[in-house]
Amino acid sequence: MTEKRAQFATRLGVIATTVGSAVGLGNIWRFPYEAGVHGGGAFLLIDLFFIFVIGVPVICAEFIIGRHTGSNVRGAFKALAPGKAWGVMGYIGIIASLLILSFYSVVAGWTMEYIFQSLRDFSGVHSADGLHDQFDTFAQSNLRPVMWTVVFLICNYLILARGVRKGIEKMSNILMPMLFVILIIFAINSLMMPEVAKGLEFLFKPDFSKITPSVLLGGMGQAFFSLSLGLGCLITYSSYFKKDTPLVRTAFTTAGLDTLVSVLAGVIIFPAVFTFGQEPAAGPKLVFEVLPSIFINLPGGMIWSTLFFILLFLASLTSTISMSEISIAYFVEEFKMERKKATRLNIVIAIVFGTLCALSFGCMSDFTIFGFTLFNLFDYLSSNILLPVGGMITSIFVGWVLDRSVVRQELNLSAKPVSRFAFAAIVFCLRFVAPVCIGLVFIFGLGIF
Ligand code: PHE
Repeated sequence: MTEKRAQFATRLGVIATTVGSAVGLGNIWRFPYEAGVHGGGAFLLIDLFFIFVIGVPVICAEFIIGRHTGSNVRGAFKALAPGKAWGVMGYIGIIASLLILSFYSVVAGWTMEYIFQSLRDFSGVHSADGLHDQFDTFAQSNLRPVMWTVVFLICNYLILARGVRKGIEKMSNILMPMLFVILIIFAINSLMMPEVAKGLEFLFKPDFSKITPSVLLGGMGQAFFSLSLGLGCLITYSSYFKKDTPLVRTAFTTAGLDTLVSVLAGVIIFPAVFTFGQEPAAGPKLVFEVLPSIFINLPGGMIWSTLFFILLFLASLTSTISMSEISIAYFVEEFKMERKKATRLNIVIAIVFGTLCALSFGCMSDFTIFGFTLFNLFDYLSSNILLPVGGMITSIFVGWVLDRSVVRQELNLSAKPVSRFAFAAIVFCLRFVAPVCIGLVFIFGLGIF
């Protein structure tokens, strides 16, 4: 690239923005609901395997591609393998990011609704059943969920239009640590609930008989979704990294913190699910029905609840910013579009599809494709299929096609180069373990056999 691209200002900024992308609704909303549907401990086990054995090396692979080329996802593959089919990865990334942005903004919109519900003390409704009904009434009401989806996307637009460094970096530096602290406080609170043993057993005790093909597919999808992996998000972000950013360490820190937040969310939710007699397999609405019950039973509940939903809203923003950046960088660099215009295009697409997803809980709940509502279809298609396919392509590309000297050079650029063993392990994983495991899960999970 000849023109000078933006870069993240500080090391903390790199970690905070990457973690800011990874940590979001995927950990606090999606992880508990998926774990609830897929039997708890068994799901967590698969998720952990995919995060640390497959995820960390594939994160490194995306970092290598991104920093080496300093380019958007499509441009990066085009630069490294001109004229080859690898460029298809660019399209996978852009399509997946737009699908995710659409349904994700709906849930982020719910968090905004819940900021206001918290400020109104949930209109005085304090029973678990009442809070349950309140969510259903809201989600089915059509107008409000659509309104919040649009409002959320406009917030996203306003931040993005200000450029890479200023907006994203500053916000992440303050917010992520705050979210973390408040999660720990809630986790301690849940550990004192009457049904804590049942909740923790559900979350942590893997029942191996529950490892079915759909649990495998779901766990793999969750790992990719939560790490923002497989769609070039980390390629795009690492294109803004400096040359001395240690890639492997950043990959481990991201995976570690991301996992910690998901596990904390599980520790907060499941003891409460059993204490308040709720159903762990309630699906996407689980967290929004259970959390208010937790908060209103705390002293100063309204304040906790408001604070929590504000932080969750902001954590969602740092994630959607990273998703949007994928297609914005692409529009700007490949089509020479002006940044503001590219940002508008991204948001308009998301508003159209996001509205349809929001209505999936209301007037479009009967509109299904392959038995999925649009909301569920977008989620399933992106998380369980596109992201792992993207991860597979990336790992094969870096493991087999990319010049080994580039891999070595990128991994060793920081002050502390990686050990020989770590290097060999990462390359082995990229060449064999990741493609084979992802392939096997597809074969079984999608019922190809
Ligand atoms: N990882 C984010 C989360 O857990 C979601 C995300 C997916 C962000 C893909 C960017 C790209 O909320």
